[in-house]
Amino acid sequence: MSETLEAPKAAMHANPGLTPTMLNHAAWVTHDVEATHDFYTRIMGMDLASTVIDDKVPSTGDDFPYFHIFFKMKDGSTFAFFEAPGLPAPSKSTHPAYDIFNHIALEVSSREDVMKWYDWLTLNGLDVVGPTDHKGMILSIYFHDPNGVRLEITTPLDENWNNHTESAQRDFALWIGAKEKAKREGRDITQAMIELARETRERYGD
Ligand SMILES: [Fe+2]
Repeated sequence: MSETLEAPKAAMHANPGLTPTMLNHAAWVTHDVEATHDFYTRIMGMDLASTVIDDKVPSTGDDFPYFHIFFKMKDGSTFAFFEAPGLPAPSKSTHPAYDIFNHIALEVSSREDVMKWYDWLTLNGLDVVGPTDHKGMILSIYFHDPNGVRLEITTPLDENWNNHTESAQRDFALWIGAKEKAKREGRDITQAMIELARETRERYGD
């Protein structure tokens, strides 16, 4: 019998106190940097912060030319885009959930500001979804930039919305536990998760 060689698994080390400070930038591909520039400076009110022109990607060495552009928010965090000529259109999502769930949210100061954004975006011809009250945590509206990036403008309704660590730990265990139990019992996982969601919904008063 031959011995099976297994690759050594990485050890699970405890984090030594390293947590990122803030969002530096989030980046996407654009096929129209002029429309992107107009959208982020005029409509989103961001400052043009920085640019790079190169014919080689520094991190990987890939040699295609690109224009890299950054737009800055009030806290210094940025949105960035790359325009590279000749790129084919991106592949389509395999399920609508990807287009709904993948998004980035930008914070504003108040409920009134969310509604000012709603009016401003609508005035500019954008399709805006909402406002949606997320279980008393945050109030949000949703729309898309010219590149199809789903954006959210949100304001916290609960000042501790991002500080519910203990209940989040319990929910994490609940979700993982229910999923593993469904797997063990050979049940349909989607159905088991629907049941879990219905059982926990009572807490939100829905
Ligand atoms: Fe969100």
